[in-house]
Amino acid sequence: MAEQPPDQGRRKVTVPSIAAMKASGELIGMITAYDAVFAALVDQAGVDMILVGDTVGVVVQGRPTTVGVSLDEMIYHVRMVRRAHPKALVVGDLPFGAYQVSVEQAVDNAVSLLKAGAESVKLEGGTAIADRIAAMTRFDIPVVGHIGLTPQSYHRMGGHKVQGRTSGTDAGQREGLIEDAFAVEQAGAFALVIEGVPRDLAAEITRKLSIPTIGIGAGPDCDGQVLVLHDVLGLSDLPLKFVKHYVDLGAQTVAATRQYLAEVKDGTWPDDTHSYH
Ligand code: KIV
Repeated sequence: MAEQPPDQGRRKVTVPSIAAMKASGELIGMITAYDAVFAALVDQAGVDMILVGDTVGVVVQGRPTTVGVSLDEMIYHVRMVRRAHPKALVVGDLPFGAYQVSVEQAVDNAVSLLKAGAESVKLEGGTAIADRIAAMTRFDIPVVGHIGLTPQSYHRMGGHKVQGRTSGTDAGQREGLIEDAFAVEQAGAFALVIEGVPRDLAAEITRKLSIPTIGIGAGPDCDGQVLVLHDVLGLSDLPLKFVKHYVDLGAQTVAATRQYLAEVKDGTWPDDTHSYH
């Protein structure tokens, strides 16, 4: 796809404008995108934030979890998304292994994502990574936190499991998650993704924080919502409670390809009108 000139009609979404949405009460709409084509389309729809998420590893690369995604892959996808010149704020995900080793490593890799075109970075964790968030924000790297069901913690959690429940076999960590949320805010993050927690816990965190919360599988009381694009479009088939397929592009892709194939096989494609003379 050719590089698109910037759309003059809509104002660029910035870090301060996202932060201001909590005060004004306007709900934040965020969605993932991993390439220029879909970034341009979701931007045309008017989303506030585009997350170049490490879910690319699952919904595009076919991996079972996000754990194997590399920083180089994230840089590649951030570059593609920025080529769409979105008005939406671009958030680049730091993948597993890109910030765990040291504060220096975390800042260095966040700088690489910003140089690739991200306007902010996201990383998973609370108190354990607050020093990374503090160092990044000190050096003007805007940070989105991510707590709750953090997919990079797949092996510790024993799967993608709802966190912070008060009963059942996976109960616990409620107070720990509230501490994590405060730690992320105090370290300087400008927004916080809360994933896979009970609705009342997300609501409590949202009430207590001054930065906006963006929920996924966290109920309707957050300051915004994020979903994975391939889930919204019906291009994934994970049976997740918090996923809604707004269209079934999976079925439509199969149907269109079947029709094309049938026309190739019976010799009706291409016809004369689609031929050069
Ligand atoms: O990588 C991603 O897409 C995410 C969302 C699920 C929030 O982190």
